[in-house]
Order: sequence, then structure tokens, then C-alpha cells
Amino acid sequence: MFTKAFLLTAALCTTALFLPKAASADNAMDTDALKGKYLIEITGCNDCHTSGYAQSGGLVPEAKWLLGDELGFRGPWGTTYPNNLRTYVSEISEGDWVELARTLKTRPPMPWWALNAMTDGDLLAIYKYIKSLALVESAVPAYVSPGEVPKTPYIQWPVPPK
Ligand code: HEC
Repeated sequence: MFTKAFLLTAALCTTALFLPKAASADNAMDTDALKGKYLIEITGCNDCHTSGYAQSGGLVPEAKWLLGDELGFRGPWGTTYPNNLRTYVSEISEGDWVELARTLKTRPPMPWWALNAMTDGDLLAIYKYIKSLALVESAVPAYVSPGEVPKTPYIQWPVPPK
């Protein structure tokens, strides 16, 4: 015997089956890439590799993440610029990325030690996430040697304590 409650439940279930899933870019991402996005967000890669991210309190749309920056970091090491990570991963395989990240050592202030300490799983997730972003080329200035004054805006870092 069909009760009203049963019919209502059946109607609700049927509706739920045909309701479109909430449209969001995250839906299309596999679980590894989602984990990679999370890792990128909590390990601060955007702070330097995304133009304006730190200055705006993280209010840069994802479409502009990780394209590098022309804001230089100047110190006794010269002036360094965070590179475009989308281009970077587009040019290497998953295996090469893990190998590179495990042994990476750069000039300051890139926290290469954080990448060195990540598990293979975390590094792969980061690779998959960056790979899932559209490839957008950007002109990141080249490294400037210590004696030269950079032509771009830069942040002056003090000489590190001995
Ligand atoms: C404090 C700023 C800062 C943060 C945070 C940061 N980076 Fe960097 N990163 C740089 C700078 C500057 C360089 C360029 C260093 C150089 O020229 O020697 C760089 C270089 C790199 C390189 C090497 C590029 C090459 O040409 O070999 C990789 C890979 C990289 N960053 C990935 C990351 C990832 C992934 C994160 C997040 C875990 C991250 N970075 C966080 C500033 C930063």
C-alpha cells in the first residue's frame, strides 16, 4: 500500500537523481589534483609565484595562479624572480618533477627545503594540479646578478645573519 509519505520520499529521491551536480571547476579535477591544489594553498607557493597574491590577502582568481612574478627579491644573491610553474611542469614528466623537487636547491628566498621534504605522493599531487591548469605563458624577468640594479620593482632583503 502506498502511503503519502512513501510517495513523497520516492518523488524526492527521483528529483535528487536528476538534479544536475553543482557546477564548479573542482568537480572536474581528480582527487590527486584536488589534493595538489590544497597543498599549493597551504604551503604558500602562490605567495611568491602568483603576482599580487600576498599583497591582496590571497584575492587572486585561480585562473591567474602560479604564472610567476616580475616582483624581484634582491639580496646578496642578486635578484631572483619566481618562475611560471605552469610552463615549468609542462616541460617535464611526472618522474622528472619528483626527482627535481627532491634535489632542488635555488637562490633565496625560494623555500626549496619544503619541496625536498615532501613525499612522492604530495609531489605528484602538486604536479597533477599544476598540469590541470591551462598553460598560460608569461614573461618572467631573468635573474639579475648582485652588482646590477634590477629594472623591475623589487623587495630588498638584508644580508643574512652569520
Ligand atoms: C618566498 C617566495 C617563494 C615561495 C613561497 C615559493 N617560491 Fe618557488 N621560487 C621562488 C623564487 C624567487 C624562485 C627563483 C629562484 C632562483 O632564481 O634561483 C623560485 C623557484 C622555484 C622553482 C625552480 C625553478 C627553476 O628554474 O629551477 C620551483 C620548481 C619552485 N620555485 C616551486 C615552488 C613551489 C612548488 C612552491 C610551494 C611549495 C614554491 N616554489 C614556493 C620564490 C618562492
